[in-house]
Amino acid sequence: MSVFWGCETLKTSKPIVPIKEYEKLIVGRFDADYVGTTNCLRTCHYHDKINEDFEASTMGAQMSPKTGLPLVDCESCHGPGSLAIKGLTKEKVEQDAKEGKQTKCDYETFIDLDNLPAPARSLICLKCHTANATFNLHNWNAGSHAMNDVSCSDCHKIHAGPDLIVRPRETFQMCYECHEDVKAEFSLPSHHPVPEKKVKCTDCHNPHGTTSENLLRADNIKATCTGCHAEKEGPFVFEHADVVEDCSNCHSPHGSVNNHLLKQSMPFLCLQCHEGHRTSATRPAEKKAAYYTRCTDCHSTIHGTDIPSPSGKGRFIQ
Ligand code: HEC
Ligand code: HEC
Ligand code: HEC
Ligand code: HEC
Ligand code: HEC
Ligand code: HEC
Ligand code: HEC
Ligand code: HEC
Ligand code: HEC
Repeated sequence: MSVFWGCETLKTSKPIVPIKEYEKLIVGRFDADYVGTTNCLRTCHYHDKINEDFEASTMGAQMSPKTGLPLVDCESCHGPGSLAIKGLTKEKVEQDAKEGKQTKCDYETFIDLDNLPAPARSLICLKCHTANATFNLHNWNAGSHAMNDVSCSDCHKIHAGPDLIVRPRETFQMCYECHEDVKAEFSLPSHHPVPEKKVKCTDCHNPHGTTSENLLRADNIKATCTGCHAEKEGPFVFEHADVVEDCSNCHSPHGSVNNHLLKQSMPFLCLQCHEGHRTSATRPAEKKAAYYTRCTDCHSTIHGTDIPSPSGKGRFIQ
């Protein structure tokens, strides 16, 4: 056993495919030339809908050289197309039409997007959408989507219509496709109103990667929550120890069977850390008084308060 084992493998490890091959994967055939979108589409009406949608999209709008932005056209993602359209003359198209056939270009010579490993598929987008151009992508490589082989085009359906980004209020539908367990949580009786379209997955998460855990936009869970529930932030004169530093000690962020997104119902939630007690309003902790189960009926400022309890100790009683 050696502690240097990790370094040893790093030194001897080889790239999965030679660099040249990898380049070919994301750039396309080196022996092909770029022919431009007009040539791609000239003989083939099959692609008209795709082209219409694409021209109407934000990326397609860049096809006009006047914008000064990197030109985006079919070959930016599919690779150079001269080999694909070789031999596709007007005459051939007419002949095919007579035989009731749709003329096909030679797909095989394009980048094989369907079988491309996820990181390579993302690189096709990242060659233009650099972290500098798109601030959100700064931590892409550190995010669990990139690390788990989810690629850009798994979420951004390039040819599903002119909308390239997901409509913000409908984002959750897209996330549900892969996160079924989360979907189930949001259908529990108490949940953040995501299905009701009042809160979005992306209010709390950045799907493009973050430096914090769980793809959270904020540094930690508390900062995530107090971004909207500012009144729970503190600091208070009487803190609930450091328990409230992590809201998830008591709450589930997505949904729960218990009221108020609580992980456990009362009194069990509190009894994990405290002993219950008998009490009456006039003589606290009196043995004959009733045993209450809803602790927050009396300890109503459970998140912390600046006002002491009657004994002056600050037991969250107002
Ligand atoms: C921004 C990258 C990008 C651009 C630009 C682009 N495509 Fe695509 N295209 C893709 C991806 C990724 C796929 C794989 C399927 C998918 O994710 O939709 C694809 C799939 C296709 C397919 C396969 C059929 C299908 O719908 O799945 C055709 C045909 C196609 N593209 C034609 C075009 C044409 C024509 C243009 C130019 C008008 C174009 N593409 C521009 C990324 C792009
Ligand atoms: C040749 C350069 C280029 C390539 C390759 C490219 N894009 Fe783009 N993309 C742009 C430009 C330029 C814009 C418009 C300006 C902007 O919004 O940044 C854009 C816009 C977008 C938008 C819309 C932004 C908005 O605010 O509406 C999305 C989403 C997007 N691209 C995703 C992708 C994905 C996914 C891929 C890979 C399949 C990809 N792009 C490949 C250059 C490119
Ligand atoms: C897990 C799903 C998912 C993945 C993977 C993903 N995106 Fe996005 N993307 C979104 C959503 C949702 C939005 C809408 C904006 C938001 O709510 O943050 C968005 C917005 C964008 C935008 C426009 C807004 C902005 O931030 O400027 C661009 C550009 C973009 N994505 C590019 C990419 C590229 C490039 C990749 C791959 C490196 C990628 N996305 C991977 C879900 C995803
Ligand atoms: C109110 C903020 C908030 C919203 C809205 C939200 N999340 Fe989360 N999510 C969190 C927090 C906080 C965690 C970390 C939980 C923990 O560590 O206890 C988390 C964890 C996760 C995880 C990893 C752990 C797990 O539960 O599997 C996934 C996946 C996830 N969220 C997906 C989603 C999706 C998908 C949506 C929208 C449908 C969504 N989240 C909406 C706050 C939120
Ligand atoms: C194409 C499938 C796919 C889509 C769509 C998708 N995810 Fe994920 N997501 C994954 C995979 C795979 C993982 C890693 C394994 C896991 O934790 O479940 C993951 C992990 C996560 C995590 C956990 C991060 C961590 O550090 O543990 C969060 C949070 C998350 N996704 C949020 C989202 C949100 C928000 C959306 C919608 C904008 C979304 N995902 C859309 C596949 C997807
Ligand atoms: C984007 C804003 C936003 C963020 C971030 C957010 N919440 Fe909320 N929260 C809401 C909204 C909106 C409601 C619903 C209020 C209503 O229905 O009146 C809510 C409701 C709640 C409720 C009450 C549920 C009930 O049934 O009484 C609790 C508890 C809660 N949030 C805890 C949290 C926790 C814990 C976090 C961090 C993981 C968090 N929230 C992050 C917006 C947010
Ligand atoms: C010690 C357990 C505990 C912790 C930790 C905790 N809460 Fe709560 N929270 C509760 C209880 C119990 C309720 C229900 C109060 C009631 O019954 O009236 C509640 C209710 C809420 C509500 C809805 C009712 C209201 O008072 O507005 C919100 C919002 C909320 N909590 C946010 C947070 C946030 C944000 C954090 C982290 C900063 C947090 N909670 C940490 C126990 C906790
Ligand atoms: C994760 C553990 C945990 C949970 C859950 C929790 N507490 Fe606490 N609580 C503490 C700690 C730690 C302290 C401070 C140390 C102490 O004095 O016991 C504290 C202090 C208190 C105090 C002040 C005690 C004193 O002696 O001044 C009260 C009252 C209290 N909690 C009530 C509750 C109620 C009611 C609930 C349920 C809604 C609850 N706690 C849930 C850990 C917890
Ligand atoms: C009918 C009101 C009431 C209910 C309900 C109640 N408490 Fe109390 N609790 C009090 C009073 C009054 C005190 C003493 C306050 C003071 O010293 O100022 C107290 C004190 C405490 C203390 C401080 C230590 C101690 O034993 O003196 C803890 C911890 C505590 N309660 C936890 C709980 C828990 C857990 C529940 C739910 C099972 C609960 N309380 C339900 C009224 C109540």
